[in-house]
Amino acid sequence: MGRKLFFFILLAAWMWMCTGCSNKEKHYVIGVSQCSDDIWREKQNAELRMGNYFHNNVELRFAAADDSDKRQIEQIDSLVACGIDLLIVAPNQVATISPAIDRAYDSGIPVIVFERKTNSRKYTAFMSADNYAMGRQMGEYIAKRLNGSGRVLEVAGLKGSSPAIERHKGFEDVLKQYPGVTVIATLQGDWTEDTGYDIVKKWKEENPDVTVDLVFGMNDRSAIGARRAFLEAGDSRPLYCGIDGLPGENGGIRLVNDSVLDASFIYPTNGDLVLQLAVDILEGRPYKKETLMTSAMVTHDNARVLLMQTEETMRQEENLDRLHEMANAYLKKLDTQRALTWTAFGGFVLLIAVMVLFYLYKLGKSTLRRERMVNSLWELKSEELPAPESAGADNAPTSESASGQSGAVSSVFFTRFKDVVEARLEDSELSVEDLASEMNLSRVQLYRKVKAVTGASPVEILRTARLKRGYQLLLTTDLSISEVAYKVGFTAPGYFTKCFKEEYGILPGDVRTGNC
Ligand code: FRU
Repeated sequence: MGRKLFFFILLAAWMWMCTGCSNKEKHYVIGVSQCSDDIWREKQNAELRMGNYFHNNVELRFAAADDSDKRQIEQIDSLVACGIDLLIVAPNQVATISPAIDRAYDSGIPVIVFERKTNSRKYTAFMSADNYAMGRQMGEYIAKRLNGSGRVLEVAGLKGSSPAIERHKGFEDVLKQYPGVTVIATLQGDWTEDTGYDIVKKWKEENPDVTVDLVFGMNDRSAIGARRAFLEAGDSRPLYCGIDGLPGENGGIRLVNDSVLDASFIYPTNGDLVLQLAVDILEGRPYKKETLMTSAMVTHDNARVLLMQTEETMRQEENLDRLHEMANAYLKKLDTQRALTWTAFGGFVLLIAVMVLFYLYKLGKSTLRRERMVNSLWELKSEELPAPESAGADNAPTSESASGQSGAVSSVFFTRFKDVVEARLEDSELSVEDLASEMNLSRVQLYRKVKAVTGASPVEILRTARLKRGYQLLLTTDLSISEVAYKVGFTAPGYFTKCFKEEYGILPGDVRTGNC
């Protein structure tokens, strides 16, 4: 019984633990390898984090290479070595980073190439705006802005990066239709404002008399750097166009609205969409291998509206962030409360289990002790019987010196009682009253005396004697179990079997088959 209960408690504890872990989703780690660390990347990372709110089972690991090929290669290799489930990568340059991306892909990790290209087909999905088309549209705009005639200085992006190559190509191609628009120089930048400033400053120093009508920076930061150099040189003639069109304080939309830039181009960051694509891939849902993101020009005509809308969106994003933080704090509190409740409940269950086991142990021990006592008393010779324990027994000794005498009295009494019981074992009608009258005692007197001498009641003694005789008959005769049962005063063989099992822990049949 005790063992069964113990196993039941173990099972309950196991089920309890399982309910805690069964509804756990698969956990994914996504590595994000950014080539740079600037406001465009910051915005994208923030969107990735925001997208992460909807995917609790996803962990994002960010790495930013600060425009260094070497660092990005190391970072990709180390992300892969740390065991990411998917890689999102914006490669610094096409050729340099491709081998590291190939290695990641070959190791079995899905790879999303984002916004900048590699020169390999080893990727799972690619997502970007059309940089060639953006170059073309910017060329169209500039040609029209200059009324088909003017001198343009181009500040290119990092040489080996795909947006720089494609934006330049688009720009160059479209300007072929506008012979009046001359690109007087294409300076090699690297997407940063400082380099934009440095190269333009140098160029200005080398070409102090060359007039420039418009500077096309391949991103807004390059255009701003170039503008700084022109203004420092006291030249306020050129207009400035860039690409990125970010919202926010230093973003292209405000710069166009404030006439710092003449035009920009929204180069979408779409971090939340990249994350959704990643999760779709990881969870085996259908996805598009190539996704083209939409982009749009920012000019004086739409900058004000765009500014209002993006500011509104940013405010709502902040609200969402705050809401998320509040929900997180609330969930944490709830988790702590739940853990406390479960701990208290677990403690309570454990306490109950310990108490039940202790009770069963005590019960088992006292029953065993009594059974052993009755059994051994039955085996004892009359002279060896103990002195009566209870003062309530008739003929109880009145002083310690009388104990030897009372021991003798007890032994005589018990020998007589044993004889009476054994003589009438077969009698299923035998009652305690019958035994008492044979002993010339009242029922109560008999009970007290027997209890005092043996610690057990006359009924228990009778039952033990019957079973003991039954055991002997099973061992020494060919009587059937039913016949044995009747012979030792049981009226139902089934009840005999039950009592036998309780007394000896085995079935009567086991005595015969030698199973005991
Ligand atoms: C951000 C950035 C953008 C540019 C893009 C080109 O890191 O430099 O300013 O448009 O990358 O990949």
